[in-house]
Amino acid sequence: MEIKELNLKNKVALITGGAGGIGKSIVENFAHYGASVVVADKSSERCEELQQTLKKCSESYLVECIDVTQKNEVKNLIKLIETQFNRLDIVVNNVGDFLELIKPFEELDDSEIEDLYSVNLKSMFMVTSEALPLIKKNNVVNSSIINISSIEAFRGIPRATVYSSFKHAITGFTRSLALELAPSQIKVNAIAPETTETIQVQPKKAIAEKYHDHIERWNPYGRFGKPSDAAGSALFLASDLSSWVTGATINLDGGALAAAGWYRDPDNSWTIAPVISDDGFNYK
Ligand SMILES: NC(=O)c1ccc[n+]([C@@H]2O[C@H](COP(=O)([O-])OP(=O)(O)OC[C@H]3O[C@@H](n4cnc5c(N)ncnc54)[C@H](O)[C@@H]3O)[C@@H](O)[C@H]2O)c1
Repeated sequence: MEIKELNLKNKVALITGGAGGIGKSIVENFAHYGASVVVADKSSERCEELQQTLKKCSESYLVECIDVTQKNEVKNLIKLIETQFNRLDIVVNNVGDFLELIKPFEELDDSEIEDLYSVNLKSMFMVTSEALPLIKKNNVVNSSIINISSIEAFRGIPRATVYSSFKHAITGFTRSLALELAPSQIKVNAIAPETTETIQVQPKKAIAEKYHDHIERWNPYGRFGKPSDAAGSALFLASDLSSWVTGATINLDGGALAAAGWYRDPDNSWTIAPVISDDGFNYK
């Protein structure tokens, strides 16, 4: 009989953007289950706050205030992890941002497109490629790379076309790298969240108070996502619970993708007609 356990003891996990939002919940949960967590986040204020939290709940951690779009900073971080821990078992590529660029595609200039590429895809490539030699160093079976994508990787998003394109690309990256690394028994998977309350995305603020009763009917599950929803999926993918799962994406969306354009109207009947026409969550 083989009984599976959720246990990250003796594992070293790097979480990019781990001092805020979804990443922070992943860090707290990984630390709770025994992992040594390494956090790379560009916000010094949030890094300082997280250090205080980890001091109380973890014996082994490292918080580095770096920008993961900068190759030299990523290289130095991986060297530091090697010196301090001599291993790396889990990488969560969590950094990603729509950079508040909501506008018609033809109005984006080249530098905005470069910025979106840099934060959403290039940094993921760089972190993964710099981390792989250290992940492979100890031949640990079931090491895990987890890419935080978005439900926008599986549906279009008007006026955020380039952001959505890079999120779509994460699916291809995840699948192809999963095949490349399968012979080394390194898992590569993705998590695709729907709207989740974080620092970056604050839907309750964006929607006028008078429409807040729509929120329950908006998502089939009756609420927006919480960072801890993503942490639960990340724990599964990081641990041996997901042995033999690779190249997959978890749609973390309360059923939104299954519903496609279906919502419940104020009478709780299903509809595909828009239910909020002004001052909602509208991409003007
Ligand atoms: N929140 C959502 O609704 C939602 C939905 C779908 C996908 N996502 C994805 O989830 C991931 C996390 O999103 P979030 O909403 O938690 O973001 P967030 O902005 O709330 O938190 C991101 C953290 O990453 C850090 N960060 C940003 N750029 C960085 C960089 N270049 N180098 C190092 N650190 C950096 C920030 O300081 C912050 O602490 C992103 O990839 C995002 O695209 C979020």
